[in-house]
Amino acid sequence: MTHRDTHELSFDDFDDQRFPRAEETDFDAVVDARMSRRGFLSGAIAFGATAFVMGSTALTPTSARAASRLGFDAVAANTLDTVTVPNGYRWQIVAKWGDGLWSDSVPFDEETRGTGASQERAFGDNNDGMAVFADGDRTILAVNNEYTNRPIIYGNRETGLPETDDDVRKGKAAHGVTVCEIAEQDGQWSIVRDSRYNRRITPDTPMILTGPAAGHDLMKTTADNSGTSSLGTWNNCGNGRTPWGTYLACEENFNGYFSSSDPEHKPSAEMTRYGISNEDWGYAWAKTDERFDISKHPNECHRAGYVVEIDPLDPTSTPKKRTGLGRFKHENAEVVVDGSGHIVVYMGDDERGEFLYKFVSSGKYAEGGDNSDLLEDGTLHVARFNEDGTGEWLELNPETTDFATQAEVCIYARVAGSKVGATTMDRPEWVSANPLRNEVYCCLTNNKNRGKKPNAGGDETPAGGPNPREGNNYGQIVRWKPKDGDHTGKDFTWDLFVLAGNPSVHQDDYAGSENINVDNMFNSPDGLAIDNNGLIWIQTDGKYSNEGDFAGMGNNQMLVGDPASGEIRRFLVGPKECEVTGITWSPDRKTLFVGIQHPGEKGDSHFPDGGSRAPKSCVIAINRDDGGIIG
Ligand code: FEO
Ligand code: CA
Ligand code: CA
Repeated sequence: MTHRDTHELSFDDFDDQRFPRAEETDFDAVVDARMSRRGFLSGAIAFGATAFVMGSTALTPTSARAASRLGFDAVAANTLDTVTVPNGYRWQIVAKWGDGLWSDSVPFDEETRGTGASQERAFGDNNDGMAVFADGDRTILAVNNEYTNRPIIYGNRETGLPETDDDVRKGKAAHGVTVCEIAEQDGQWSIVRDSRYNRRITPDTPMILTGPAAGHDLMKTTADNSGTSSLGTWNNCGNGRTPWGTYLACEENFNGYFSSSDPEHKPSAEMTRYGISNEDWGYAWAKTDERFDISKHPNECHRAGYVVEIDPLDPTSTPKKRTGLGRFKHENAEVVVDGSGHIVVYMGDDERGEFLYKFVSSGKYAEGGDNSDLLEDGTLHVARFNEDGTGEWLELNPETTDFATQAEVCIYARVAGSKVGATTMDRPEWVSANPLRNEVYCCLTNNKNRGKKPNAGGDETPAGGPNPREGNNYGQIVRWKPKDGDHTGKDFTWDLFVLAGNPSVHQDDYAGSENINVDNMFNSPDGLAIDNNGLIWIQTDGKYSNEGDFAGMGNNQMLVGDPASGEIRRFLVGPKECEVTGITWSPDRKTLFVGIQHPGEKGDSHFPDGGSRAPKSCVIAINRDDGGIIG
């Protein structure tokens, strides 16, 4: 496989090819017949013999209901190279890859697609999770720049790959986090250049390592023999925000940047579990920065794969990696203040057959007090879902996992999860808690290996429970209800909010649940946010071929769901070959910010600038024509 080929693969596919997994044949598929479309509708059958009902009207067909809470006209699926929003709404670009943050920033050069120096002073690439913060009447946007599409950022190179040291510098600088002030003037949102808040956090920005793993031998490197400080953050996917005003950037596919100069180097079993191998994903960072060479610096990779806490209002602050929240391929971090005052953080590990986690802080949140280290100490748990609609959180500690220290439990959280028998999931992406009801949702985006291959740790992945379909191409959204409303507690009940599918192609399980129809069908739910009114915003990162199993679904999109009725309606369609990811509101909630990531990832888009210009990931603002609140 050449690096060129890797452009066509997802991270999961790439890791799968490097570490092929055996076909699974030696376990029973628990639920073959259980998850029929009819079975899903009857609820009790779908979730086991115990009639477990969470919101008995949840899946009532919308046709049977008089009024909808979704007050907009559905947008039809399409394959246009633009953004489509409902009648009565409009959209605009706020910020895009390469936009300068300072008045001395060099304007984006379409020919070269920037240099290391220009990218360090500009909005990063492939924006993902984001949050808006208010400081008085100033509006500050913190946004993750997850990764780069090499053929686009290196569109000036025949190979579509970094060829010079400055190419590598540019690629690194396009990663990380962008913090910038934004403002609306005459109805147009844009970056406030030279704002004192503006900052680029990159793979070279100093970080503090905190929590149980800080200082452990596995965290010590040649450059940092204390194991307490590291450089940079990268592959920041979804995000979180805390009630004390900090931003959480979640490190996802951190593994794809490490490589070995020694082809004979044998990565450890733990490295393999995390997809770290002798070959990187085409970024070539080890070429200019030896710490990414695993044969020379094997501990460096233990210092990535965390949730990073950033103070968006203080550009001089040092970001803190919160090792207590575990090391895995973090999607987002959904922060809930439990009734007891403890902080609970729900987190997905986005890889086929990996787990769902939660962290419970030792300390309690004090409004207006010093909460700055609440994410440093606490307990880490992993979810087990039972067939009967119940589930439990299993604590990960030295006693339950046989690791000697909590540091190792956190550094090898995936291994710890396997040891306690956590449920292998269909790629947990974003988690979001309903502010109005005792329930939490998680997108399980898809898993073609379900029922066919074990996860990277060898755990079986039988179809069943919240992952009911073999070879799951469409995905589903699971939700759970903490027992007695206690987010810190062990027990919960669960059901599925939706099974995505295609009722125009399939009549079986793959048609999806009853709340899916030919007008709202989609695949691969990923981004997720529940607004102040309790409506669910669902963003997709799926197949956009609009053919075969995906016929009629068009480009990636954003939909809105009603947790009470189960109704889902399409709100937005993105441009060609994009993923819709990242969502946040202005302080007055009259502007909805949405991320458009990697338009034209396969070469067929010039969004948003048109002509022959490079396609660019961007943040868009959506407003109502009547100036009303959205969501
Ligand atoms: Fe970066 Fe799992 O999405
Ligand atoms: Ca995602
Ligand atoms: Ca995804």
